[in-house]
Amino acid sequence: MAFELPALPYAYDALGAHMSAETLEFHHDKHHQAYVTNGNNLLADSGLEGQSLTKIVKASHGKNAGLFNNAAQHYNHLHFWNWMKPGGGGAIPGALEAKINADLGSVDEFKSAFIAAGLTQFGSGWCWLALKDGKLEVMKTPNGENPLVHGAAPLLGCDVWEHSYYIDYRNARPKYLEAWFDNLVNWEYVEGLFDAAR
Ligand SMILES: [Fe+2]
Repeated sequence: MAFELPALPYAYDALGAHMSAETLEFHHDKHHQAYVTNGNNLLADSGLEGQSLTKIVKASHGKNAGLFNNAAQHYNHLHFWNWMKPGGGGAIPGALEAKINADLGSVDEFKSAFIAAGLTQFGSGWCWLALKDGKLEVMKTPNGENPLVHGAAPLLGCDVWEHSYYIDYRNARPKYLEAWFDNLVNWEYVEGLFDAAR
């Protein structure tokens, strides 16, 4: 099955000043589209045609860099659009909040660690909340890499490539990460991934 670019799950201007329509037009219509187009070209004759996206990501890691980069970024962005919603942020659903408190100390400690991971990811990449061996972890990865290739289930990821924030925040990655966490995160979607991964 070929990779396909899904429509955004909300209007381009739905995230307001936290992430502008211009950013989403470039990020979704140009960047994500390029991962889909290049991924499909590289998938042909790779021996992985017809496999699930997660299988393609894991199987191409360390073996087919071009396919891995594009397939992993396709996976990451499919979720990224859903990790945000208009009027997001706020309270974390109960069972997930309890797990965060148990594994990461507190929601405040988790937030600090998540933002620090995004800030200290040198160059392009992602910061993550992931479930590994039954325990929550905060992680960071370069470029298109994600927790799947580290034996973990990604539950929440923030894109810290400059294409995700430069139009709205210029070089202020800390401001972007704070605003993203406080105003955009779709915790119900994170909870769904948590329930599926447990
Ligand atoms: Fe991106």
